[in-house]
Amino acid sequence: MMLIFREATSVDIPKLLELEQCVVEAERPFNNTIKADNPIYYDLDKLVSSKSANMLVVENETQIVGTGYVEIRPSKQSLRHEKHGYLGFMYVMPEYRGQGLNKEIMQRLIDWAYERDIKDFYLDVYAQNSAAIRAYEKVGFEPCLMEMKLNLD
Ligand SMILES: CC(C)(COP(=O)(O)OP(=O)(O)OC[C@H]1O[C@@H](n2cnc3c(N)ncnc32)[C@H](O)[C@@H]1OP(=O)(O)O)[C@@H](O)C(=O)NCCC(=O)NCCS
Repeated sequence: MMLIFREATSVDIPKLLELEQCVVEAERPFNNTIKADNPIYYDLDKLVSSKSANMLVVENETQIVGTGYVEIRPSKQSLRHEKHGYLGFMYVMPEYRGQGLNKEIMQRLIDWAYERDIKDFYLDVYAQNSAAIRAYEKVGFEPCLMEMKLNLD
């Protein structure tokens, strides 16, 4: 099946809001403090309009089947690089998984940022999301900083 990769536009936002909730549901098992009703993960208006971000969608003939963005962000003062690419909204519809689609999305995002002189990339992933971690390792990512949390409820 022919898949088309393209930059998202504001017209895609209603569909992206739906897919954002699919990412939330995928991550819910890993964090029991995620809000119950439509938690917001991404600033989609900014991601589709900013020159420092590239929000990609993959479409089959009828619908968006995969997503991902890279945003060029300022880095911590302590690091040698002043800017880095932050990757997020990595989502592939279940029936398209395991075919390298996420790898292709990430590679395109990394290439886009590399052309803008970005050589360092970061993303956040739950430690228990082994499917996603495996997919990111296939692109060359390796574990770095680990977030720890304490909930006193
Ligand atoms: C993470 C995700 C984007 C990966 O997409 P993908 O297109 O399947 O990724 P790739 O095909 O490039 O890599 C697949 C790897 O992921 C793993 N994987 C996860 N789920 C899989 C599935 N249902 N079928 C096959 N492989 C799967 C495999 O280990 C595979 O590695 P392998 O090919 O060496 O076996 C996708 O599983 C997804 O949308 N998950 C739900 C949302 C999510 O958790 N996003 C990450 C937020 S940080």
